[in-house]
Parts: sequence; structure tokens; C-alpha cells
Amino acid sequence: MQNHLKEFKIGVFISGGGSNLQALIDGEKSGSFHSAIAGVVSSNNEAYGVVRAKKEGIPVLVSNDEDEVIEFLNDNAIDLIVLAGYLRIISPKIMDKYSNRIINIHPSLLPKYGGRGMYGLNVHRAVFSNRDIVSGATVHYVNQIVDGGEILIQAKVSTEDCKSPEEIQAKVLEIEHSLLVKAVKILEEA
Ligand code: GRF
Repeated sequence: MQNHLKEFKIGVFISGGGSNLQALIDGEKSGSFHSAIAGVVSSNNEAYGVVRAKKEGIPVLVSNDEDEVIEFLNDNAIDLIVLAGYLRIISPKIMDKYSNRIINIHPSLLPKYGGRGMYGLNVHRAVFSNRDIVSGATVHYVNQIVDGGEILIQAKVSTEDCKSPEEIQAKVLEIEHSLLVKAVKILEEA
């Protein structure tokens, strides 16, 4: 039987450092998946992820204007959106247009530590203060409920040896990178 792999033109949405974006760039280069990163949208002009994208010659838009974002997605024929540290809520217009074609990476084992206010270090602070000995990351589909869409894949890490929320964050971030690459592969094979 022949294997029909999908090849996406991925739009990566970021707000910060973009280490997950970098993992995808590296994943594409090393042939870990067949899709291409065809555009990067940043909500923040200062995000280091913007530098990473420009270095690779990937088209970048820094904007929080819905119509500008949609135009950019159209111009670059984006058919899969990956939210990788994007700190804004996706507008209903984009959600409708990309229904079942938006995924997000979240730094916890959802449904634990998800929802409004649970982003960045807040997540790891909660894990730390609850003395959880395991945390992890989740890639899930995006719907109207913040961090509430169907889960695609998760990975766990032991947090037993972590002495601060920052240490948990660093450990989780490390597994996020390979998890996101795996998630793209899963979608290609779906
Ligand atoms: C990651 O922990 C991601 O899960 C979260 O924000 C962080 C972004 O890191 N949503 P980076 O910008 O990819 O380095």
C-alpha cells in the first residue's frame, strides 16, 4: 500500500524566544518531516523568534491586526498553523478558516495547568508549588476553549530533582522541541 503523506505549508505564530520555531526549522532541514515553514507571524516586534526566522529567509509578519494576518497567511498559502509560544488568542475568523488546522504547544500535561493565565512560568510555578513529581508538554488542536482542544500528543518529564519553577521550565522546554516535530509528522501521516 502506498503511503500518502501530506505536506503542509506551516505558519508558525510566536511571541517570544522562538526555540520551538527553531526546533521546527531544524526539523525541516534534517528531513524529520516533509512540510515547509512558509511564514512566521509574531505578535511582538522584539521577539527573538523574528530574528531566527529572518536568518532563514522565512517571510515574517509582525502584526496583531487580524486582516493583515489573514492576508499574510493567504499570500504564503499557509495551510497549517502552529502556535509556538504565541501569547494571543486566535480570532474567530482565523479559527473558522483554519478549523482543525491549528495546533498549539503547551508546557504542561493538559488538562492539568491549562486555561487563561496558565502560560509561561505561571504553569511551572503551579507545578512546583503543588510538588508534582511529573510534568510535561502537550500538543493539542486549538478551539474556542483556551487549551481545551483535542490532544494530539504528550510527553512527560520527571520534576523530582527540580529546585525551582525555572528548572522545571527548562526541562519541559527541552522535550517540547522534539514533541512539536513529532506532532507535525503525525499530522502528515493522518
Ligand atoms: C514554550 O514553553 C511553549 O510551550 C509556551 O511558550 C514557550 C515558548 O518558548 N507556550 P519558545 O518561544 O518556543 O522558546
